[in-house]
Amino acid sequence: MIEIQSLTFRYEGADRDALRDVTLTVPDGAFLGIIGPAGAGKTTLAHAIGGIIPHAVRGDFYGAVRVNGSDTAETRLTDLSRMVGTVFQDVESQIISSVVEDELLYGLENFGVPRDEIEERLTFALEQVGIAPLRHRTVSSLSGGQRQKVAIASLVALRPGILVLDEPTGELDPFSSRQVFSLLRTLNREYGMTIVAVEQKIMLLCEFADRLAVLSEGRIAREGTVRQVLCDIRALEEIGVNCPRAALFSSLLAEKTGAEVPVCVNAEEAVEAARRVLG
Ligand SMILES: Nc1ncnc2c1ncn2[C@@H]1O[C@H](COP(=O)(O)OP(=O)(O)OP(=O)(O)O)[C@@H](O)[C@H]1O
Ligand SMILES: [Mg+2]
Repeated sequence: MIEIQSLTFRYEGADRDALRDVTLTVPDGAFLGIIGPAGAGKTTLAHAIGGIIPHAVRGDFYGAVRVNGSDTAETRLTDLSRMVGTVFQDVESQIISSVVEDELLYGLENFGVPRDEIEERLTFALEQVGIAPLRHRTVSSLSGGQRQKVAIASLVALRPGILVLDEPTGELDPFSSRQVFSLLRTLNREYGMTIVAVEQKIMLLCEFADRLAVLSEGRIAREGTVRQVLCDIRALEEIGVNCPRAALFSSLLAEKTGAEVPVCVNAEEAVEAARRVLG
C-alpha cells in the first residue's frame, strides 16, 4: 500500500513547488493511472513513491510517503527498491549493461535471488514483455522502444510488489503500447502487483486502469474510478488533459439531445449510447 500524506516538494533552486499538498492512497492490488499536462508533477510524484525523492534529489520535502508502512524518507533506497520498482521516463539513464541478458542478471544478482531461480525469472520476464529474441543483443543495437521493454523486463524479473512506470509507452507504437499494458494487467491480476502508471495515452489508461489521478500544477485535481474522473469532461479540458473521444461523444450527445447519457469510456459504449438515444 502507498500512502501519501500532504506531500509538498520543491526542487532545490526552483521558484515554485513541483508537488503541493498531495494526499493519495493506493491500496494493494490497485492499477492506478496518473495523467496531467507537461510539468504537472507526474514524474516528481513517481519518484516520491519510489523514494528517489528525497533520497537522490535535493529539495524541500514536507509531508510523508509510506510504502507498506515504511516511511520512505527514513528507509534506505536499497530497501525501498525491493518493494517498489520504478521504470524511469528516461529509460536510457536506467540501463547500465551493454547486453540485454546482463541487464536482467545484474538486478537479480544484486537482489540475491537464488541461482536456481534466476533462469526461470529471466525467461519469464523476457517472454512476458515480448523480447525473448533480444536476450543476447547489445543494448546499443536496440530501438528506443526495445530499450523501454528491456527496462520494464528487468523490473518484472525482480517482482516488486509495486511497479511504478513513468510513461512506459513513450517510445512505443500503438501495438507495443497495448502489449505493455496487457502485460501490466497480467502482473496486476495474476501476480497481485500494484501498478502505478504515468501515461499520456489516456485511452490505454481508460481501458486498463481501475482508477485515475489527475495532476495539475502539482496538485491532485481529480481522483477516482476511470468513470468518475471522465464524468467531468470540462474540468479535464481546463486542466489540459486530452479526453477520450468516447467520453467527449457521450457528453456531446447529452448536451445536444437533452437525454441522460452516462459517460462512455470506450467505443462500444459510445455506439450503444448512440443507438439508445438516437434510435
Ligand atoms: N530537477 C529539477 N530541478 C528543478 N525543477 C524541476 C526538476 N525536475 C522537474 N522540475 C520542475 O518541477 C515541475 C514538475 O516536473 P515533472 O517532471 O514532475 O512534471 P511531469 O508532469 O512529469 O512533466 P512531463 O509531462 O513533461 O514529463 C515542473 O515545473 C518542472 O519544471
Ligand atoms: Mg514526466
